[in-house]
Amino acid sequence: MHILHVVGARPNFMKAAPVMQALGKHDYVRQTLVHTGQHYDFNMSDVFFRQLGMSAPDVNLDVGSGSHAQQTSQIIARLERVVLELKPDWVVVYGDVNSTAAAAMVCAKLLVPVAHVEAGLRSFDRTMPEEINRLLTDQISDLLFTPSEDGNQNLQREGIAPEKVHLVGNVMIDTLVRLLPHTLERLPKDAPERFVLVTLHRPSNVDDIGWLKSLLSLFLEVSRDCAVLFPVHPRTRSRMAEIGIELSIGGSGLQILDPAPYLEFLTLQSRAAVVITDSGGIQEETTFLGVPCLTVRENTERPITVSMGTNVLVGRDIARLQTELTAALSGKAKRRKIPPLWDGHAAERIAEVMVQSRARCDAKRVTPLVPTGVPPE
Ligand code: UD1
Repeated sequence: MHILHVVGARPNFMKAAPVMQALGKHDYVRQTLVHTGQHYDFNMSDVFFRQLGMSAPDVNLDVGSGSHAQQTSQIIARLERVVLELKPDWVVVYGDVNSTAAAAMVCAKLLVPVAHVEAGLRSFDRTMPEEINRLLTDQISDLLFTPSEDGNQNLQREGIAPEKVHLVGNVMIDTLVRLLPHTLERLPKDAPERFVLVTLHRPSNVDDIGWLKSLLSLFLEVSRDCAVLFPVHPRTRSRMAEIGIELSIGGSGLQILDPAPYLEFLTLQSRAAVVITDSGGIQEETTFLGVPCLTVRENTERPITVSMGTNVLVGRDIARLQTELTAALSGKAKRRKIPPLWDGHAAERIAEVMVQSRARCDAKRVTPLVPTGVPPE
């Protein structure tokens, strides 16, 4: 059974690692890892492979940056050749990035079965490119692995056949559970005792310069009482450079840092007094860790982190952010429960389903639409 995994952007790597490890325990499974090259900086990609214990990708499509259409179309064109040549039995895609939807599209057209890990999440906000990627990927996947019950409900409402859907839990938490014990030695010696950790990269927060400036002013003000650590995504960094803010604001409690590798970031998250973010994965990780999380977004595709976890949606409202931050720093944070199946074993459940599906897949297998390596006209 040949399984090809497609990853491309930072949040994919910690999801693919446990799934590949779990599938690797089955003798008759052969695996190939394709990196689309959507994220290519050392700090956004290579260091994650190293820390997660993943071997280097077998194939790199090197697509790099571009508009959504450019990035997606390049992945489609380059991946099609790889899939035609390698003829995998299954292709596994992760999360909601451009690489996810592009890869699912290639496979659906070639009649190669696709499994989507982290299926069913919905923000119901179609201005987010990730929501479009989620909707498209789920419609054309053959196996859909959901992290929480709300994912199953969304898929049912969208008419996805229930036998394709498997509630397995959260693979990102598998990686967290495995690597949390290794964070002890990762805390920088000069790290402050108590700090707020910030990550922001969504266009809705960083491409609106006026809003970004208000957020930075708030962080500067907060940093007079409590240190603020802000590892900066490349998109955010280029916006900050446009308004004249460079790495490290000397002498203040606001530390603007390079993007952090997985273990260093997990160390910071697990020790932060509060996390302020617009990332999806960080809403989940803070819920698991029991760390208060303030999400600077109007909606979330991970509502379970609000209903059960430590997450509070503050929207685009500086006053609300300030109020919630003050409350969290004074110890008035939400209590939380860890959602069901966020137990470190989600990937094993995925591997079990995929291995069981082998017979079904063999029976259904059809000749790909284009049988040679020649791209269609
Ligand atoms: C992508 C995902 C988003 C995810 C995020 C995590 C989509 C639609 N979005 O957004 O869901 O939360 O990754 O990081 O797929 N850049 C670099 N170096 C890199 C990668 C990107 O400098 O290694 C720059 C690009 O040139 C671009 C910007 O960062 O200007 C954005 O990169 P891109 O991959 O297009 O989207 P993200 O905002 O990272």
